[in-house]
Amino acid sequence: MRRQNQSSLVEFILLGFSNFPELQEQFFGSFLVTYLAILMGNAIIIVAISLDQRLHVPMYLFLLNLSVVEVSFSTVIMPEMLVVLSTEKTTISFVDCFAQMYFILFFGGTECFLLGAMAYDRFAAICHPLNYPMMMNKRVLMKLVMFSWVSGIMVATVQTTWVFSFPFCGPNEINHLFCETPPVLELACADTFLFEIYAFAGTILIVMVPFLLILLSYIRVLFAILKMPSMTGRKKAFSTCASHLTSVTLFYGTANMTYLQPKSGYSPETKKLMSLAYTLLTPLLNPLIYSLRNSEMKRSLMKLWQRKVVLHTI
Ligand SMILES: *[C@@H]1O[C@H](CO)[C@@H](O)[C@H](O)[C@H]1NC(C)=O
Repeated sequence: MRRQNQSSLVEFILLGFSNFPELQEQFFGSFLVTYLAILMGNAIIIVAISLDQRLHVPMYLFLLNLSVVEVSFSTVIMPEMLVVLSTEKTTISFVDCFAQMYFILFFGGTECFLLGAMAYDRFAAICHPLNYPMMMNKRVLMKLVMFSWVSGIMVATVQTTWVFSFPFCGPNEINHLFCETPPVLELACADTFLFEIYAFAGTILIVMVPFLLILLSYIRVLFAILKMPSMTGRKKAFSTCASHLTSVTLFYGTANMTYLQPKSGYSPETKKLMSLAYTLLTPLLNPLIYSLRNSEMKRSLMKLWQRKVVLHTI
């Protein structure tokens, strides 16, 4: 803590898991491995879709955007978090904390809307196959993708500037793994009631509404699947939908619990674990769930592999 008067702090301290010093090393190791796996899984998807012209259809262009968002999202969080885990008390300047919060909200918000748009795409393809070319053409695709990115920017801009307009007069220890809204807000020495109302309404719009739309479209998809004539087709479509739903519920559920009431009574350790679910688990699982289980994607990867082998043997 520097001086005591209002707005005088110039830096924060991130505590990480300093309550469990004996576990820091294991955390560091497993998060490093997880981060590398996230980078690799999503990089494979980005390369495969970019290089294969036949995959330039809405479903895979959404996936491409999602993978770019997830690589960026985890890169905003993980390297800093690894530093936090390898030192006892990590200082982070106001500007860095602002930037981290901004990009977490930007990529996190964009991901919320992208997952919603992807569910709409599957709903249109499975429930209205005849109208699909009309419901999801290049123009609609561009609009949905643009909407997701622009909304992410707007959410981040409003929320981050609002949080950082509060005075911070100490203490300056953030009991969390990285700078995100709820733990930083707890350090503000001002009445944050209005912001909390905004956060509640905002989270309902950004997290709950897409989530409910996704649930709704998957329920419709489920009914369409039940009407399928072939048993194996039914089983396959069902397992795909079930895994999408699991990943989506994990992401929106934990983000919801964290952001709906930023000053809610969960213990700091619970908040840390929940934040790991939407920052680590989702980007790790999505490549597996959305594409590596998908036969078109596998075929494209095989071809890439063969092309590489052929190039090397010539
Ligand atoms: C996102 O999707 C659009 C399709 O509208 C595509 O043109 C664009 O290249 C994708 N962007 C990224 C960064 O993946």
